[in-house]
Amino acid sequence: MTPSDRVESAIADRRAVIDDAIDEQLPIVAPERLYSASRYLLDAGGKRLRPTILLLVAEAVSDVEPLSADYRAFPSPGGEEVDVLSAAVSVEVIQSFTLIHDDIMDDDDLRRGVPAVHREYDLETAILAGDTLYSKAFEYMLDTDAPPARCVGAIEELATTCTEICEGQSLDVGFEGRTDVTVDEYLEMIEFKTAVLYAAAAAIPAILLGCDEATVDALHGYGLDIGRAFQIQDDLLDLTTPSAELGKQRGSDLVEGKRTVITLHARNQGIDTETLVSEDPTDDEIELAVNRLTDAGSIEFARETAADLVDSGKRRLEVLPEGEHRELLEGIADYLVEREY
Ligand code: IPE
Ligand code: IPE
Ligand code: MG
Ligand code: MG
Ligand code: MG
Repeated sequence: MTPSDRVESAIADRRAVIDDAIDEQLPIVAPERLYSASRYLLDAGGKRLRPTILLLVAEAVSDVEPLSADYRAFPSPGGEEVDVLSAAVSVEVIQSFTLIHDDIMDDDDLRRGVPAVHREYDLETAILAGDTLYSKAFEYMLDTDAPPARCVGAIEELATTCTEICEGQSLDVGFEGRTDVTVDEYLEMIEFKTAVLYAAAAAIPAILLGCDEATVDALHGYGLDIGRAFQIQDDLLDLTTPSAELGKQRGSDLVEGKRTVITLHARNQGIDTETLVSEDPTDDEIELAVNRLTDAGSIEFARETAADLVDSGKRRLEVLPEGEHRELLEGIADYLVEREY
């Protein structure tokens, strides 16, 4: 197996466990329309990257054999058993909540290869489904049976994360009307809207399992670095990957006037990024825009920025014991910028 095969199979193995747990923890109860809308995107797919990172960190800091543990009664180094799977579900449910509301804000019709929740259902139901998932995530984090101080720590991390996601999304929307956004402002915006959830996914298992502060901080930093790299790759894929493979609308960022590291670089090269594509662009139109962005060096600049963040994130893993889990967490960092959807 190549390193990237090992990473993909580690994700696939854990995705199956996470999917079963979601099924168990989020049943469709009355009112049925609300809960079926809440489950709809979770059932449509998703890569499950954040909960996978959470489980891998749990395995790494407890040094158990890969995939050998009962995640519902996970051995903490202090002796207590913690349900880290409930924390993994919590983080994925937050991911789903943000996607539902993000598609409303970005006026996107397609998500995970199916109509966005506000299109499949209606706006009211989509807002409520997002809100339901948001609050359920805190219930699931409370269900981990961790000792009270650690449970409070995990809840605090989750709450701060959610606040920051809202701040990041607000910055993202606010940037649309501005022509003077800098790369540093963009990097701060994606730290908040996207990277903090990766940081929470990496730090929360360490908090729940009683790791020292230096370890928690290093894992948090790992998540912030690789999460920003992930968002840069997301911005690249928005330009390069056909909708059918991406499961969301290709070119949406150009149409919406999003400020990304690619368009910011292009603007500095004198390209008017507002007029690169029409309101409803064809693949050929997007292809032409990508050629111009490539010629301007903007695509390369984005790839280099992401690669530097991946390297920095991987270095932060030095706090973990050497071994298969650390290698998988390093491999996931690479995977985030090598993935094609
Ligand atoms: C999409 O995240 C939202 C962003 C922060 C860019 P993913 O690409 O991880 O989406 P799923 O969960 O796999 O659908
Ligand atoms: C979304 O960023 C970040 C979230 C908090 C959901 P995007 O708007 O780029 O995510 P996609 O491309 O729609 O998945
Ligand atoms: Mg979006
Ligand atoms: Mg968005
Ligand atoms: Mg995007």
